[in-house]
Amino acid sequence: MSLPPSAPGPVSPWRLSVAPMLDWTDRHCRHFHRLLTRHTRLYTEMVTTGALLHGDQHRHLDFDDFEHPVALQLGGSEPADLAACAKLAQRWGYDEVNLNCGCPSERVQRGAFGACLMAEPALVADGVKAMRDAVDLPVTVKHRIGIDRIERYDFVRDFVGTVAEAGCEVFIVHARNAWLQGLSPKENRDVPPLRHELVHQLKREFPHLTIVINGGIRDDDEIAHHLLHVDGVMVGRQAYHEPWQLAGWDTRFFDAPSPAAEREQVESAWIAYLQRGHEAGRPWTQGMRHALGLWNGVAGARAWRQFWSDARQREVAPATLHARAPRPGTRLGVAPGTQANTLSQATMQEPV
Ligand SMILES: Cc1cc2nc3c(=O)[nH]c(=O)nc-3n(C[C@H](O)[C@H](O)[C@H](O)COP(=O)(O)O)c2cc1C
Repeated sequence: MSLPPSAPGPVSPWRLSVAPMLDWTDRHCRHFHRLLTRHTRLYTEMVTTGALLHGDQHRHLDFDDFEHPVALQLGGSEPADLAACAKLAQRWGYDEVNLNCGCPSERVQRGAFGACLMAEPALVADGVKAMRDAVDLPVTVKHRIGIDRIERYDFVRDFVGTVAEAGCEVFIVHARNAWLQGLSPKENRDVPPLRHELVHQLKREFPHLTIVINGGIRDDDEIAHHLLHVDGVMVGRQAYHEPWQLAGWDTRFFDAPSPAAEREQVESAWIAYLQRGHEAGRPWTQGMRHALGLWNGVAGARAWRQFWSDARQREVAPATLHARAPRPGTRLGVAPGTQANTLSQATMQEPV
């Protein structure tokens, strides 16, 4: 039994999750993560209400049953539009609808949603109420601890209080402010200081709500520490860059067997998935980019990554390539955090 000793009550469905990440957590990425963990909650990239109501719904919403539990994250602010999109989420079979109140990009601000919604808790409450009236799914909110230079705890406390009155029971809190001017979205994930203690304080103040902490959480001991204070931990960049870490989560945090005993087994299942897509006419490189960190920390990881990133091979079937691919070995095993790891992080760029 490896659950933290003071884990309160039954295991929350929000105990561990991989963060919504635009361009990254598409359905292929989520399928890959499911090969590593069955219990961790997964989130889609943010989809705007406009894109859903006026765009290609199948492209934005289709997913595989294998991905459950999976939440759809919406970007929007108009209650009627949010309600219509929540209905779509329910029709498609998602397990949750999450409203983005944390994205600081200028494009999102022009649309008057994302982090700037933290200045309008009554509007967020109306949106939550409209969605709850429209569907039976849990309606959750992901937000920051403040915007611009508002550092007061009262600000986030009042936001959560107002939105909770509208029926939201789950809050995912990225523990830093969003600075709406002068920083790119990427800088806004690193520059404003992390203040995890404010999120712990929210849980103390609202013990009946499910409070999930997010932001800068990297290793499993850190996750275990936060679980002593809040109901759940959401991990973003670390989960994406170091996916093998996910293989230990079911055992450690859910007291359940891991679906992934060996990296080879995950690699084979992943290549089989890409092969099926390739046979259906989908370029396998779109999916493979999400898995390039699989062997990080093992000797030969770099050669493996380079092999699978080689654009000249993109017409070749993944199953054929798999037979030729280098096999990262364990004999010369390199410990995590040493050269193989560092190289991988330097070569994977974040979109801004
Ligand atoms: C490439 C990228 C795209 C992101 N896209 C979204 C998004 O669509 N919706 C959202 O709520 N947060 C988005 N985020 C923020 C993450 O969900 C998360 O809050 C942030 O990265 C902090 O967590 P971390 O330090 O564990 O990565 C994105 C982050 C990254 C790195």
